[in-house]
Amino acid sequence: MRAIVLVGGEGTRLRPLTWRTPKQLVPVVNRPLIEHLLSHLCRHGVRHVTLAMTQRGESIRTALGDGAALGVELDYAYEETPLGSGGAIARVGRGWRHRGTPASEPFLVLNGDILTDLDVGAMAAAHRARGAELSIGLVRVDDPSSFGVAVLQGAAAGGRPEGAAFIERFVEKPPAASAPSHWANAGIWIFEPALLDEMDADRFHRVEEELFPSLADAGRSLLGVVHGGYWRDVGTPSSYLGANLDLVSAGASGSGELRTDPGGGDRVLVGSGSQLGEGALVRGPAVLGPDCSVASGAVVTRSVLWEGVHVAEGARVAGSILASRVVVEPGASIDGAVIAHGARVPAGATVSPGTTIEPGATAPGPERSGGG
Ligand code: GTP
Repeated sequence: MRAIVLVGGEGTRLRPLTWRTPKQLVPVVNRPLIEHLLSHLCRHGVRHVTLAMTQRGESIRTALGDGAALGVELDYAYEETPLGSGGAIARVGRGWRHRGTPASEPFLVLNGDILTDLDVGAMAAAHRARGAELSIGLVRVDDPSSFGVAVLQGAAAGGRPEGAAFIERFVEKPPAASAPSHWANAGIWIFEPALLDEMDADRFHRVEEELFPSLADAGRSLLGVVHGGYWRDVGTPSSYLGANLDLVSAGASGSGELRTDPGGGDRVLVGSGSQLGEGALVRGPAVLGPDCSVASGAVVTRSVLWEGVHVAEGARVAGSILASRVVVEPGASIDGAVIAHGARVPAGATVSPGTTIEPGATAPGPERSGGG
């Protein structure tokens, strides 16, 4: 089965990290986010993947090349301006037809910012067995207001269906209080190629807003395939941090040396060339990228540091994301913050929860930070 992976978004919710690094290349256990998804597809027998993107994502192509290192054959399809999921899928699918790819095979489409262990082969088997036109992977979420949700035939709103069921209704981003279901679109879909004829390739549109609701409303065979395993949409700083901590806790294969926190805690992934000074403490789960240094008396807890980050003597970093080459000066304290590429946190400063510091900027010093 061929796959399209959508990687043409702006990644606005992950700013300021995505000002300099496209979302698909942000490191998760020291490997670009998209590599986890492509390796997963490869393990499930998907060998040919088209990445749908804009020119802004060119660094993704530079990083992944022809995909050989990940066991997949990659090609790239560009949109002059973002076409949304619907426009992007239509354009790529039609391109395949022009190049003679058989039009009878269903194909897979994935959002390029998810991490999951969903069994793609089993989903494809359900799609075929039930004669679906379109299948949507579904995961249970507590708050559906930022997702599209599916109302499944025969399932009570709060019920827990098994396997696969046809979708009666699809509602994009319902208000939490009136959401008709907690089964959210996981961003993994299987399309019958005939659907391409119903989708415009030259205007912006999102399948979640147009195609999915209209197929459900017309009573067509839209299948929901329930996934009870791991799934995360890495769209926000907190889900990005959570994804790293989940994977390092689970001992996932990343890049670096997996150590156990000497304080008896969880695992810590330490990138190559990183150094911990005497008495430096890194409490897991945590990830240090390559070439980081954590000096004597510094403490890093439940955080993700990208490459070349320096945490000086006596500094404290907790629940935070520090992008490439961030410098935390002696005695500074950072809690629940996102510090972008090359930013500096001055000696003695306190960076409080919810703060973001832009690339190359300097956080307010100790004299300003306490007084508001
Ligand atoms: P936000 O701006 O934070 O919402 O992030 P995003 O732009 O990545 O949007 P979203 O999380 O909804 O996108 C889900 C996936 O679809 C991501 O992998 C995006 O890169 C991708 N995507 C979003 N819009 C487009 C588009 O217009 N074209 C293509 N090819 N991919 C898109």
